[in-house]
Amino acid sequence: MKEIAKNIFYIGVDDHQIDLFEGHFEVPLGMAYNSYLIRDRKVAVMDTVDRNFTHEWLDNLEKALDGRKPDYLVVQHMEPDHSANIVNFMKNYPEALIVSSAKAFQMMQQFFGQAFEDRRLVVSEGSTLPLGEKTLRFTAAPMAHWPEVLFTYDAADKLLFSADAFGKFGANDVEDPEGWACEARRYYFGIVGKYGAQVQMVLKKLAGLEVETICPLHGPVLTENLGYYLDLYNTWSSYGTESEGILIAYTSVYGNTKKAVELLADKLSAKGCPKVKVIDLARYDRYEAVEDAFRYGRIVFATTTYNAEIFPFMHEFLTNLKERNFQNKTVAFMENGSWAPTAAKVMKSMLEGCKNLTYAQTTVRILSALDDSSKKQIEDLAEELCKDYAARSAATANKNDLTALFKIGYGLYVVTSNDGKKDNGMICNTISQVTSTPNRVAVCINKQNYTHHVVKQTGIMNVNCLSVEAPFKVFENFGFKSGRNADKTTGWPTERSDNGLLFLTQYINAFMSLKVESYVDLDTHGMFICTVTEARVLSDRETMTYTYYQNNVKPKPKTEGKKGFVCKICGYVYEGDELPEDFVCPLCKHGPADFEPIK
Ligand code: FEO
Repeated sequence: MKEIAKNIFYIGVDDHQIDLFEGHFEVPLGMAYNSYLIRDRKVAVMDTVDRNFTHEWLDNLEKALDGRKPDYLVVQHMEPDHSANIVNFMKNYPEALIVSSAKAFQMMQQFFGQAFEDRRLVVSEGSTLPLGEKTLRFTAAPMAHWPEVLFTYDAADKLLFSADAFGKFGANDVEDPEGWACEARRYYFGIVGKYGAQVQMVLKKLAGLEVETICPLHGPVLTENLGYYLDLYNTWSSYGTESEGILIAYTSVYGNTKKAVELLADKLSAKGCPKVKVIDLARYDRYEAVEDAFRYGRIVFATTTYNAEIFPFMHEFLTNLKERNFQNKTVAFMENGSWAPTAAKVMKSMLEGCKNLTYAQTTVRILSALDDSSKKQIEDLAEELCKDYAARSAATANKNDLTALFKIGYGLYVVTSNDGKKDNGMICNTISQVTSTPNRVAVCINKQNYTHHVVKQTGIMNVNCLSVEAPFKVFENFGFKSGRNADKTTGWPTERSDNGLLFLTQYINAFMSLKVESYVDLDTHGMFICTVTEARVLSDRETMTYTYYQNNVKPKPKTEGKKGFVCKICGYVYEGDELPEDFVCPLCKHGPADFEPIK
C-alpha cells in the first residue's frame, strides 16, 4: 500500500474494463477511482470506489488497516463512481460512522433507500473532525462537481483531499504519454466546465491554505510544482486563454469546406499565428474538441448549411460549448452552401447568450467551392485574426502603422478665448499636463485655427473638459466652423471665470484657466506651455475621450452604396476614386490624413 504522507495510504483502484466513463467519455487509458485511508488514533476512510471494484477495494482497505477498524467513512462526493460501495462498507464495518454533508445524506436516501440516521456525522463549511495527530477540516465545494461536494484539509500534513477537482482521465498504473494536463483538461471541461464560477469560489477559499499534496478522486496524487496545477485550474475556471493560437473546428461534406479551412490555416500561419489547430469534428473525439475550444482564445467555426440548419457534428459541438458556459473568445465563422447558405447565421444564433464573445468582422461565405470572392474573405479573416500576432514579430509587422497614434488616450476639450471683440471656442484633443510642481499644461493648436492666433496675442485661455454626456451638437458648434467668421458662443450656456473668459456650464466635468508661460513652434502647430490660474470641478462624470466620441457620439456616416472617402472626424463623405492631396473637409476643416476609404 502506497503511503502518501505519514499514516495516509492510497487504497484506490484502476479500471481498464470501462468502455465509456459516465456513459459518454472515451477513456483509452482507463480510469482511476481513488480512495485513501488515514490511520491515526482514529481511522478514517476517504470515499469508496466504483461498483465494479468492491472486492479489490475492500481488500486494499483491509490490508492498509493492518488489523485496525475504521471509525469513519468520509464521503466527499456522492456520484456513484465514488459512492457505490458505501453500503458494502457499512455492512463490513458496523461500528463506523459516515461523515458527510447534509445534501450527501439526502442523496444516500435517494440512491440506497437509507440515510444512515443513527450512524452519521453531518458536517458543513468549517466543521472539523479530530483524528489524533491529524484533524480534518471540511470546506463546502458545491458544484465541483455536484452540490453536496466537500473538500477536506489535513493541516498536519498540508494535504488537501480535493474530490473530483484536479482529477483526470486515465488509470494510475499507466503512464500518460501526454502528461497530466491534456486528460485533466478534457476531464475538467467535459465534466465541470459549466461551473467555472463555483470552482473559482472554492479556489478563493483554498487560497489561504498551505498545501503540499493534493489527493483527488481520480488521477495521480499531486505533490510537486502545485502552482502549475492551481494556475491551470484558475485559467480554466475563469474561462481564460491557456494557449496562444487559433482553433479551426470544421465539418466538410465533399471536401470544399475542408479546402477553405486549409487555405485559412496556411494564411494564419504565414501571418505569424503561433499555433493553428485544425479539427474535423466528424473524426475527432468530441470532448477533445470541447477542451480545445476552451483552451484557445480565438476560434473559427466552419460548416455547411444542412437541412436549412448546420451539419450535425457542428450542431452538437456548439451545443456542448454553450452548455459549458463558453465565453471570453474571439469567434469567426465560415459557411458553405450551394443555394441558401445560412450556416453562419445559425451558428451565431446558437451562441447567443454566451458572455463576452467578440465576433470577427469578416465572415467567409463559400458558394459550393472556393472562388475569388471567398479567397479574398479568407485573406481578410486571416489578417483580422492575426493582427496582433503579425505586429508582435519583426518579420511580419507593419512598422509604419501610424494609426497607432489614435491609441493614445486623448481627451476632448473646448478651448475658449476672446479676441477683444468676441468670445470664441474650439475643439481640441492635444492637451496634457506636463509638470506638477508647478502645474503646467501643454496645449497644442493648429496655426490655421483662429484660436491659435488669439491665444498667441492674449496669452490666456480656458480649457473645458468635455464629459461623456456631451452630444454631437457640441462638436458641430465648436469643431466644424471658424471663430473668425462665426459666433460660436451666443446662446450657449456659459459663465465667466476670473480671467474674464467664458467657460461652458453644460457637458463638461471641469475647466481650467491657463496663462501662457512659453511657446514652442511646431511648424504646423504651436504648443502653449501654461500655468494654471483657476481650476474648478463641475461633476464626477467621465471625461469624453476621442475613442468614446468615435464609438458613441459621432453619427454613423451614410456611406451605403457610395464609393470614395469618409472623414473620421465628422463623417463627411467625399465621393470619388481619389481624394485630392490638398483636400480640406468642408465641415470640420480636417485634411486627407483624417479620411479613410469607404469599405
Ligand atoms: Fe468522479 Fe463527479 O464523480
